[in-house]
Amino acid sequence: MPDFIINTDDNVYIPAEDSYLLADNLLIEENQSVLEIGTGSGIVAMYASKLTDKITVTDINFDACQLAEKNFKENGIENIEILFGNLFEPVENRKFDVILFNTPYLPTEDGEVLEDTINYAFDGGLNGRKVIDLFLNEVKNHLNDGGIVQMIQSSLSGNEETLQKLDELGFIAEIADSEHFFFEDITLINAYKI
Ligand SMILES: C[S@@+](CC[C@H](N)C(=O)[O-])C[C@H]1O[C@@H](n2cnc3c(N)ncnc32)[C@H](O)[C@@H]1O
Repeated sequence: MPDFIINTDDNVYIPAEDSYLLADNLLIEENQSVLEIGTGSGIVAMYASKLTDKITVTDINFDACQLAEKNFKENGIENIEILFGNLFEPVENRKFDVILFNTPYLPTEDGEVLEDTINYAFDGGLNGRKVIDLFLNEVKNHLNDGGIVQMIQSSLSGNEETLQKLDELGFIAEIADSEHFFFEDITLINAYKI
């Protein structure tokens, strides 16, 4: 496991088990282009930087973009492109070989919404799928043929719905790994564009 300096910020997701479930299972080959949506602290992208030089990250939380920039710099990682914005808006008309997203997957009632930008890290709307479904609607347009999507979600936000949606979009998709916590399974879903 690479040893990175990881600075944190109260407004940015602190790397947790879900981050490492993705980071430890990256399917990236040398020279492949990678897009990570929702980079947070930049932890997953830093793992990806051990595998390829072509990485772009985005986040809807500007504090996350700033923290990721700081973390990349302090770890001597210079070539990751950081873009601020919602889902694929910052990469309009661009395609990648691998797309990564540790999604905000928690079912969230109106009364549970947090005031700060950290809310973006967790808030999946009432059924946990608010951001997941928007992501799935667009992901195929930004993936090269033969490309792979690797995403994290929870059993609380409907693994079967994700697998079915990916199937309808023409992907071969599977739950590649999962970890059980008190009230949920955190799942890594890999989907192959054929
Ligand atoms: C669970 S955190 C994961 C952070 C980091 N990738 C990790 O694994 O530790 C989800 C991240 O997605 C970002 N995010 C949520 N909705 C987004 C959207 N619509 N577009 C871009 N980023 C988004 C959040 O700000 C947050 O940084």
